[in-house]
Amino acid sequence: MATQLSQKKTACVIGGTGFVASLLVKLLLEKGYAVNTTVRDPGNQKKTSHLLALKKLGELNIFGADLTNEESFDAAVAGCDFVFHVATPVNFASQDPENDMIKPAVQGVHNVLKACAKAKTVKRVILTSSAAAVTINKLSGTGLVMDEKNWTDTEFLTSEKPPTWGYPLSKTLAEKAAWKFAQENNIDLISVIPTLMTGPSLTLDIPSSVNLATSLITGNEFLINALKGMQMLSGSVSITHVEDVCRAHIFLAEKESSSGRYICSCVNTSVPELAKFLKDRYPQYEVPTEFGDFPSKAKLIISSEKLISEGFSFKYGIEEIYDQTVEYLKAKGTLN
Ligand SMILES: NC(=O)c1ccc[n+]([C@@H]2O[C@H](COP(=O)([O-])OP(=O)(O)OC[C@H]3O[C@@H](n4cnc5c(N)ncnc54)[C@H](OP(=O)(O)O)[C@@H]3O)[C@@H](O)[C@H]2O)c1
Repeated sequence: MATQLSQKKTACVIGGTGFVASLLVKLLLEKGYAVNTTVRDPGNQKKTSHLLALKKLGELNIFGADLTNEESFDAAVAGCDFVFHVATPVNFASQDPENDMIKPAVQGVHNVLKACAKAKTVKRVILTSSAAAVTINKLSGTGLVMDEKNWTDTEFLTSEKPPTWGYPLSKTLAEKAAWKFAQENNIDLISVIPTLMTGPSLTLDIPSSVNLATSLITGNEFLINALKGMQMLSGSVSITHVEDVCRAHIFLAEKESSSGRYICSCVNTSVPELAKFLKDRYPQYEVPTEFGDFPSKAKLIISSEKLISEGFSFKYGIEEIYDQTVEYLKAKGTLN
């Protein structure tokens, strides 16, 4: 027993209230980690009740911290072995992406990494980046393969400002800032690069990415257009089960030899192909299948070969991803 206790590792999850982070907290507790997590507003019941419910699984401590507050991460990070920096400001409708997303995301990376450097106990930091930091470019064609060497073209985003440009720019600049800071301060950093995530969520509200991924089933026109926009800007509709992304975070933290960036993406598709799959699998819903001259094929493929070649395997394919999401939406009362 004494040996077990002395081997217990502590992980800090930055931004514990979110879709991904709350599930990551749960998986870490289930693996026996002691977990510290930061939330912006610990007094907000609606945002924290699902986290408080996880306390029954193990040792979970909740700290207040904001990405824009320089010293607010010190207490949560102190004494930790691993730090998972998951939080980011997400506001696709923002009229001021510079102040709403870009500045706080980059500031947040600096503030979290500064706390890690100060703590002296942190063995590795795992940053949640995004495919939006990899795949956006002016290339044309189909079947282009994108891997960890590729970076989103920030010149293009800044000069042409395509719809939703602020989010991919914030993710790209935040990941680049993290690599620079880590190199200059000798921090062992890993970035996980997920695609659009869906699957059951612990949060009270249905996450926006789940609503986007299921728009073809729920018939939400605005979000169907957003999904089309995603294919046009990012080059594909690529989808991963949220639990697999959390499993990849832990896998990469624990595997000593891992290093650098890791794409974590399960299914690569397009809006018309996804619609056909969903129509066949769930004939009870009115999934649209006519898309006129909208491109039927994705421009590019996002490769998870590096992650897989190092021993990771995805637990959920497209069928399970959507079966579980549909059941979740039924339980939430959004689908019949
Ligand atoms: N979901 C996807 O499909 C997807 C795909 C690729 C990458 N990602 C990445 O995965 C990560 C998690 O995404 P998610 O879907 O779980 O997002 P989410 O549910 O919207 O969670 C975002 C989290 O960031 C926190 N946050 C925002 N601004 C903050 C600030 N100024 N200070 C402190 N915390 C702040 C939020 O805290 P509050 O609760 O206080 O608002 C929330 O906990 C992000 O880095 C995202 O870019 C997500």
